[in-house]
Amino acid sequence: MNSRRKFIKQSAIISAGTCCGLSGLFLQGCSNLKSVNGKYDKGQIVVPIADLAEEKKIIVNNMALQAPIYLSIENNKETAVLLLCTHNDCELKPTGTYLFCPCHGSEFTNEGQVTKGPANENLAEFIITKNETNYYLKLRQ
Ligand code: FES
Repeated sequence: MNSRRKFIKQSAIISAGTCCGLSGLFLQGCSNLKSVNGKYDKGQIVVPIADLAEEKKIIVNNMALQAPIYLSIENNKETAVLLLCTHNDCELKPTGTYLFCPCHGSEFTNEGQVTKGPANENLAEFIITKNETNYYLKLRQ
């Protein structure tokens, strides 16, 4: 094989490997979670209970927050954590079973406990209260 042809073949293999690697990384943080906009009201984020009724795991966005909130129900318990890595403030990606940081690879449970570094602190969590229609999420100080 001449050197030009060999170079083109090797470049194609490297490109395919890079693409697969990137798509693998992307898919690891990729999930089909429903995303909703929470309302900011008196220091709390308000989310209609109906938004979580079917999905059990949703992303809540609000411009007042540095990152979205991951709101979930597991074992009949609601949990809300800020999707902001405690290592260096990258936005976390929910995988469905855990939360993954695409910057340096830290991992957290869906409840915010760090399970893999370099992060060594748990995620910021929200105190959740509710009435018949809404959840009220207030950042735990
Ligand atoms: S910012 Fe998340 S692991 Fe570094």
